[in-house]
Amino acid sequence: MTTSPILTVAGVVHAYGDKTVLHGVDLSLSPGEIYALLGPNGAGKTTLIKTICGRFRPDSGSVLLNGEDPARVHAARASLGLVPQEIALYAHLTVAENLAAFASLAQVPRKAVPAAVQRAMELTRTVDRAHVPVRHLSGGYQRRANIAAAIVHRPALLILDEPTVGVDIDAREALDAVIRGLRDLGVAVLLTTHDLEQAGALADRVGFLREGSLVLEGQPRTLIAKAFGLQMEVLVEFSGEPDAAGEILLAAEGLVRTAHRAKLWTRLDADGYAAAGRLDKRLRKAGLVPREIRVREPSLQNLFSLVAERKLAA
Ligand SMILES: Nc1ncnc2c1ncn2[C@@H]1O[C@H](COP(=O)(O)OP(=O)(O)O)[C@@H](O)[C@H]1O
Ligand SMILES: [Mg+2]
Repeated sequence: MTTSPILTVAGVVHAYGDKTVLHGVDLSLSPGEIYALLGPNGAGKTTLIKTICGRFRPDSGSVLLNGEDPARVHAARASLGLVPQEIALYAHLTVAENLAAFASLAQVPRKAVPAAVQRAMELTRTVDRAHVPVRHLSGGYQRRANIAAAIVHRPALLILDEPTVGVDIDAREALDAVIRGLRDLGVAVLLTTHDLEQAGALADRVGFLREGSLVLEGQPRTLIAKAFGLQMEVLVEFSGEPDAAGEILLAAEGLVRTAHRAKLWTRLDADGYAAAGRLDKRLRKAGLVPREIRVREPSLQNLFSLVAERKLAA
């Protein structure tokens, strides 16, 4: 893409007191691009977002939004919409009433408010709940209404902080569709997430923030191909949790328990499918009968583990 960036972050440093949490972050975002900022808790994602929004002045370095400093120039802030992690809507007001209130706050001219509200509801698929008080909405609708509030003034850059925390799978897919729709209209989207599956499915580019430094950045497929080459991920699932003896055996096979599911174990193998067959035989022989073995391309999760364990991009 040759369009000029809507957001340019250059060498941004931020400290809380004497604790430096951003160590010179560079980041640039173009219209029509989805960028997922990944990183463990405490990596500095929210701090970076607050700096981009002009809530903090960087201790050094600069943020340019549409070519201007959002900490100083109000018009620069107006080109940005922020979706905070918590639902930030008036619970007793309806969706349409909320959006009208947010439009006024964002200084949308009074005459333009009804059309702006309608457009925001259409883009976030909340029209059918226009007249329902927010507190009566499902979690998924609340999330999308939260996005609607952030785009009612037509920002060129939309920032979402952890949009999928506590969102079930169906609601997440609806959320992803809304984000893609905005991207297709030319909005630049910056999101932070713990959800690597979402990031892999959604993001045109991802960046890994580790202890305040952006240590790896690029297109998911390119990064994965570069890190893993022809290796495949072998996933072994058991019906129950393996006992201590079983765990030792699995570790000896190079299998590692996945972070979120005790019954699911993983390893990388250059010889994917063939290795999975041999592994299955050995495990059965040892009395550890897998419920299922899957072979798939390595994911952002695998890449994230490498980055977190400092085996990549030192
Ligand atoms: N208001 C604050 N005062 C002092 N330290 C803070 C404050 N907010 C965040 N931190 C610290 O800064 C680091 C980065 O936090 P944060 O930006 O919230 O990370 P993330 O969003 O990636 O979880 C953490 O170590 C956190 O404890
Ligand atoms: Mg955060």
